[in-house]
Amino acid sequence: MSADLTISRRALLVGLAAAAVTASAFPSVAEVLPKMTVAKDPNCGCCGAWIEHVRKAGFPVEVIESAEVSRLKVRLGVPQALASCHTAEIGGYVIEGHVPADAIKRLLAEKPQAKGLAVPGMPVGSPGMEVGGVEDDTYDVVLFGPAGQTTFSRYRGTQQS
Ligand code: CU
Ligand code: CU
Repeated sequence: MSADLTISRRALLVGLAAAAVTASAFPSVAEVLPKMTVAKDPNCGCCGAWIEHVRKAGFPVEVIESAEVSRLKVRLGVPQALASCHTAEIGGYVIEGHVPADAIKRLLAEKPQAKGLAVPGMPVGSPGMEVGGVEDDTYDVVLFGPAGQTTFSRYRGTQQS
C-alpha cells in the first residue's frame, strides 16, 4: 500500500516536471481527453470512418477488431432498439454507433447518471456515414441507462439542430 503511494507520488512529481517543460507545446491537463476503446467488426467500413472523426476531435482511440460486437452490446447493456454497428467505451460510459464527438465531450463534461449515448441505426450524414449527393438525416443522440432513455441532443449531419 505505502509502496504504491510512493510510486504514484513519484509519478506525479515526474509528471509535473514534464508538464512544466512541455506546457507551452501541449494543451493543459484539463483538456486531455480520456482514451476511448472501440469494438468494431473487421468487415465494417463506416466504423473506421467514425474512428477517424473522433480521432480528429482529439480522442485517443484503441480499436478492437471483433466479430462479436453484438455480444459486447448485450454485456454492456445497450438496449437492442438503440443498436448500431460499433460500440465504444470511454470514461465509464458506453458510446453506441455514430455519435458526434462534441456530444461525447459534453457527456464527459456534464457526467449525467446514465449508461451512455447512442445513435441508433445508421443515419445518413452522421459522422462516418456521409453519403455524397444524399441529403443528411436529422437524428437524435439518445442518453440511455437505468432511468430510461432521453434525447441528449439532435443533429443534422454533424451540426446540432
Ligand atoms: Cu456504422
Ligand atoms: Cu460500421
